[in-house]
Amino acid sequence: MKLNLAVLPGDGIGPEIIEQAMKVVKVVCAKFNHELTYETALVGACAIQAYGDPYPDDTHALCMQSDAVLFGAIGTPEYDNAPACNVRPEQGLLAMRKKLGLYANIRPVTTFPSLLHQSPLRADLVSDVDFVCIRELTGGLYFGRPQGRSEDGQIAYDTCVYSREEIDRVVRLAYAYAMKRRRKLTVVDKANILATSRLWRERAQAIAQEFPQVETEYLFVDNAAMRLVQWPRDFDVLVTENMFGDILTDEASVITGSLGMLASASVGLHTSVFEPIHGSYPQAAGKNIANPLAAILSVALMFEYAFHLFPEGQAIRDAVSTSIEKGVVTEDIAGDDTKPSLTSEVGDCVAAHI
Ligand code: IPM
Ligand code: MG
Repeated sequence: MKLNLAVLPGDGIGPEIIEQAMKVVKVVCAKFNHELTYETALVGACAIQAYGDPYPDDTHALCMQSDAVLFGAIGTPEYDNAPACNVRPEQGLLAMRKKLGLYANIRPVTTFPSLLHQSPLRADLVSDVDFVCIRELTGGLYFGRPQGRSEDGQIAYDTCVYSREEIDRVVRLAYAYAMKRRRKLTVVDKANILATSRLWRERAQAIAQEFPQVETEYLFVDNAAMRLVQWPRDFDVLVTENMFGDILTDEASVITGSLGMLASASVGLHTSVFEPIHGSYPQAAGKNIANPLAAILSVALMFEYAFHLFPEGQAIRDAVSTSIEKGVVTEDIAGDDTKPSLTSEVGDCVAAHI
């Protein structure tokens, strides 16, 4: 098969973890006889530096003509601490999501038995946790207008907007996932307060009729936040709007104890983007210590979701498990009696076990 990728390493630890991910892509392509072509482009703070634009037109053109996008991370601390700065790396990410039509962000949350002790929750609560968060990604507060300040600067406002069409497509996608899994869907909203949430619930209730095999549960977001730490095993597929999803997916990801292990896929209208969820981790940038496994597992997701190449995805997961079992892991998951390996050593080890 021909695989045509856009590779966007981005900022912080992005370049070094994507380098490891690409090692794995190349080995898999060689082993399974796929013809790989790829091009690299800038996004985020590095693109602002080079072009004054966090998502340059050339980067967008490259993504549009690729079968899948492999993405590292964006953001640098200078921007986080300068709220008045008006060109920001995050705008690049939002522009990319909107222009590529990436309406759903899919984050599988599963545990690795050997890493359970790293969880902030008791091991008996998190063992066998296996659920998928589906976050709407191109609507809601992130994109609603008007957004801004009053003339005197004393009042600021954001707008939360959702259309029926935006809700329906992501809720249907969530049902499709639930049908392939344990057939339980949790719809998260704040329908007791927000008009947009009432439309979410109304549409979810209507679409639920099409999927009588799936048990649908409705939770208010505050309650969902609590249940995620109380009974994380109860979740199978969770679907929610953009901002609630942003918050809940960070919460969900950390309960497994291994933020450096979780991958995500953003799917939609034009292409799909695969990225680790951990962000740019600027403190570790350039030190060859960051965990590349989330980026490598994003490659597994890419083979499975973008190309329907499931044995390739499984080969990557198996190689990741082997690397963990051998104790070839970075310092964040090494534990007390394992000598931590470098980012590049973990990449080499996984690539060698494909
Ligand atoms: C995420 C991140 C982004 C978001 C930031 C970097 C803009 O937190 O992908 O979850 O808020 O969506
Ligand atoms: Mg987030």
